[in-house]
Amino acid sequence: MSVLTNSLLLLAWYAGHCELWTAWLNRVYANAWPRGRLDRWRRWHDGALLLGPPLLIGWIGLWQPGVLTGGDWLRMAFPWKIYAGCCAAGLASLVFHSICRRLRRRPRAVIGYDSQVLDLAARLGGRPIGKGRHQQMARLPCNQTFQLDITTRTIRLPGLAKEWDGFSIVQWTDLHLTGTVDRRWFETVVELTNQMEPDLAVCTGDLIDEMSLVDWLPETLGRIEARLARCFILGNHDWHYQPDRIRQVTTDDAGWTDVAGRCIALEHHGQRLEVAGTEWPWMGKHPELKPKSDETFRLLLSHTPDNIGMAANQDVDLVLAGHNHGGQVCLPLIGPVYSPSRFGIRYASGDFQVDSTLMVVSRGLSGRHPMRFLCRPELTRIILQAS
Ligand SMILES: [Fe+2]
Repeated sequence: MSVLTNSLLLLAWYAGHCELWTAWLNRVYANAWPRGRLDRWRRWHDGALLLGPPLLIGWIGLWQPGVLTGGDWLRMAFPWKIYAGCCAAGLASLVFHSICRRLRRRPRAVIGYDSQVLDLAARLGGRPIGKGRHQQMARLPCNQTFQLDITTRTIRLPGLAKEWDGFSIVQWTDLHLTGTVDRRWFETVVELTNQMEPDLAVCTGDLIDEMSLVDWLPETLGRIEARLARCFILGNHDWHYQPDRIRQVTTDDAGWTDVAGRCIALEHHGQRLEVAGTEWPWMGKHPELKPKSDETFRLLLSHTPDNIGMAANQDVDLVLAGHNHGGQVCLPLIGPVYSPSRFGIRYASGDFQVDSTLMVVSRGLSGRHPMRFLCRPELTRIILQAS
């Protein structure tokens, strides 16, 4: 084979190598492990990705069997053959899942979808970059961190009574306040949220990544207006800091209702709405949900979409989740690569139907690192339509 062909094969090998290590890291980060332990595993992943090119080019390409200098692939040592096979399977899986993702249809319950992209940096007269970490990252060209995508899904769930027609829910998730994305950006999102006049506002966690900014919550979340209620849960990043303090400020100072590990009942035009929440596996336990009557509309807030199986078993009508940020940095044609879930990139973002449960996974509003590529921050709006 020519040097060019062998170079391409080595490149494909490296792509499979990266896929294996990122898929493994995604599963690692789905666990409720201390940050130090997660960081240790991430350094193994970073090292593996960095070592890949010199090892493959140096060892396989130039030394044994030296495929870039006329060597024969068949003379490659047996352990390398095994690893090459694993990487080939990884690459095939990546290609297969990327194609499936592109071909996937929206669940039938989602009868309308609209996306409105607003360049909030232009509105604010420049990128609203504050004094937090990674400011240079926020200034990178092509970074979509300050472009907000307001998505509106109209959904029709089986058995939904006519009283629910037009009922609207706005979901905030993954604020990751670090100070780098300035408060003005979040205040603008509050204004946009209030212009929608939601019936229900929910927040599905990862509020804080810098504890000194916990006082921003009353000025941002606290100013969101919703006719019926404002309900929240926390996420894994909150758990890594001071969840009790974040919870207290969000309830006492911002005036939101904590639904973590429990279920509250609300009423809308005589119809029962149950809002439940789960922060599992990081905190607490799943809410205990009783058998549901047909008239009740049951909503579950779950930080991670990994809880979809539990939701489907508990007659939940709609799950709103975040956590995976849509991958945050997506590759052209391939899509998301990093998604801290035991399902990998499957539930990175979008809408999914599991049995009679519909789940919407938002890309979230921000991230610990202020970098987004082909993956704009999302403000999620749901409008119900009676069946
Ligand atoms: Fe997050």
